Amino acid sequence: MPIPEKHVFVCTQARPPGHPRSSCADRNCGEVFEEFMWQLQNRPDLFGKVLITATGCIGPCSEGPTVLVYPEAFMYGGVKKDDVGRIFDEHLVGNAPIQSLKMSEEFWG
Ligand code: FES
Repeated sequence: MPIPEKHVFVCTQARPPGHPRSSCADRNCGEVFEEFMWQLQNRPDLFGKVLITATGCIGPCSEGPTVLVYPEAFMYGGVKKDDVGRIFDEHLVGNAPIQSLKMSEEFWG
């Protein structure tokens, strides 16, 4: 397996109702992850270049859903299903992380 050019970690952490930290699952991270997989499925030119991984908590739960992209270590916060196509086009293909969706430096940076 080739080393991917981009490795995308999508937080899919869930916590019990009422948990003080909440979770990305409370903010529809499941549909965000599914959209990442759908987009990749429909971009066969990216197979082997982009790897999508569902992950547990990566930190700023209150700002989720969180998505972390390496090698840039660029973190997105509050990602919505409709943002995913743009992240593919502009960041994963175009190499230009979307600054307007960037996680606040208070949480990552
Ligand atoms: S639950 Fe997703 S960042 Fe903590």
